[in-house]
Amino acid sequence: MDMRRKCVAILGIRGSGKSNTAKVITKELIQSGIPVTIIDPDGEYIKSFEEFGVMPVNSGTDPITQAVNDHRNGNSGIIDMSEWKEDNFEYLLSYISTLWEISRSLPSDRFIVVEEAHEFVPQNRRDPIGDVLTRIALRGRKRGLGMILVSQRSAKVNKDVLTQSEFYYLHKVVHPADLKVYKEILPIRQKEIERVIPSLQVGEAIYYSNGVMKYVKVPLFEESLSELNPMKEMAEI
Ligand SMILES: Nc1ncnc2c1ncn2[C@@H]1O[C@H](COP(=O)(O)OP(=O)(O)O)[C@@H](O)[C@H]1O
Ligand SMILES: [Mg+2]
Repeated sequence: MDMRRKCVAILGIRGSGKSNTAKVITKELIQSGIPVTIIDPDGEYIKSFEEFGVMPVNSGTDPITQAVNDHRNGNSGIIDMSEWKEDNFEYLLSYISTLWEISRSLPSDRFIVVEEAHEFVPQNRRDPIGDVLTRIALRGRKRGLGMILVSQRSAKVNKDVLTQSEFYYLHKVVHPADLKVYKEILPIRQKEIERVIPSLQVGEAIYYSNGVMKYVKVPLFEESLSELNPMKEMAEI
């Protein structure tokens, strides 16, 4: 499953296992030598990726210098917003914009993981952070950039970005507005979606990419650590 330079969407209600799925994929990317930058509003990633040497991106540094250094050195980093004393969206904007700019002349592979993607790439509002993330999602390929969008509000994520994704992990949703988004993505009957999706268990998802659809059971991140290629091992359920 070559996800390099692609856009991956991981959707589902709270507690359905999205972040776990994102972590398993992120780990795979790091292990295959692709650095990641994680936008982490709730500080869920630091502990998980400590042992991979992924450092927090320190909002006390100059974001431009930091992003240039990180990209040149192929560093992974976590923008842990839970540590911020006050909202510092200018830091985030500056860091991400710099990655976008520098990747023009230095198109080495990198993934941006966006947790709570509906907050950063929303459907009904335009702002500079959303604009640069949209640009990366839609035009990042030539510059080596891929993206993982994670959201519990499928219907509130920018549609253009969401529908351009090449890989989907669709966890449980129940709300009609979210089911409607799934109906736009999946090539199966609406009734089938209404039957299957709300009854998915934690960690179960419908994987869909390029015409191929299957049920998957994602391993727990902690348990996937010893496996070389857990996503390939996903059992069909
Ligand atoms: N693939 C999985 N297999 C078993 N349990 C899981 C799996 N994914 C998540 N869980 C359990 O569910 C909890 C919530 O998962 P999480 O990924 O944080 O959900 P979300 O990001 O959708 O809110 C985790 O703490 C874990 O206990
Ligand atoms: Mg989560």
